[in-house]
Amino acid sequence: MAKKSKSKLTKYAVLHKSPALAGTLPNTRLFSKRSLYKFLDRYKKVIAKPASGSGGAGVILITGRRHSKYRVQRGTKSRTTHGKKETYRYLRKKVKSSYLVQRGISLARIHGSPFDVRVMVQRKPGEAWVVTGMLAKVAGRGYIITNVKRSGGKVLPLATAIRCSTIKGTSGSAIMACLRRVALLAAHRLAGYYTKQRFFGLDMGIDSSGKVWIIEANLRPDITLFLKLADKTMYHTIVSYRK
Ligand SMILES: Nc1ncnc2c1ncn2[C@@H]1O[C@H](COP(=O)(O)OP(=O)(O)O)[C@@H](O)[C@H]1O
Ligand SMILES: [Mg+2]
Repeated sequence: MAKKSKSKLTKYAVLHKSPALAGTLPNTRLFSKRSLYKFLDRYKKVIAKPASGSGGAGVILITGRRHSKYRVQRGTKSRTTHGKKETYRYLRKKVKSSYLVQRGISLARIHGSPFDVRVMVQRKPGEAWVVTGMLAKVAGRGYIITNVKRSGGKVLPLATAIRCSTIKGTSGSAIMACLRRVALLAAHRLAGYYTKQRFFGLDMGIDSSGKVWIIEANLRPDITLFLKLADKTMYHTIVSYRK
């Protein structure tokens, strides 16, 4: 069997084929002058990131300002660019590997820092897919990425995170039910392509209206994230599924 592509663009394409999931995926394309211009025209926030990156490396946020200015953020640094052309030229210098452009989600925040959700979905041989763990990853101060190591961020129980966040108008339990449903659908889709895979670690976003988004699917998720929670129940469940 041919080796399966692990690019974020491949995973996006696999998930996007599902009509039930298409609306949960931020629009994504290969980085080019054309795609960047189109995304800058269409969305207030645009993310540029490596097609095969991990750990939050190389993730750049471009935010549209008034008078055709843009704010470009990498790590905790930011600068202003003037016009799409200058923005493209600046990014072009930073972008060494194959990059993507993606609609930027206005992630819900806790004390000013964005957070997203890691959802573990696993199955035992011959059994159904199960959500075995969910937690919130809160970005370190000043960062746009929630990756705990790179941003110095922290993990929180999901219910606590939702309660302390900027999310309005939806209950925590409704959001968690939605995250589970979408994550299970995503695992089914991904498993149709990555047929040997028995676990996925999904990075899912929640915006301030409570809408749920799939940011990326990890094929080798770091389960030690779950060890950082005071309650180790999810960690033990995850480990028991890996045997
Ligand atoms: N489209 C997006 N909108 C908002 N934040 C994003 C977006 N894409 C990535 N991020 C932020 O950057 C982090 C890292 O991006 P991700 O796609 O998960 O790549 P990596 O493989 O490096 O973890 C995410 O966890 C999230 O905090
Ligand atoms: Mg990630």
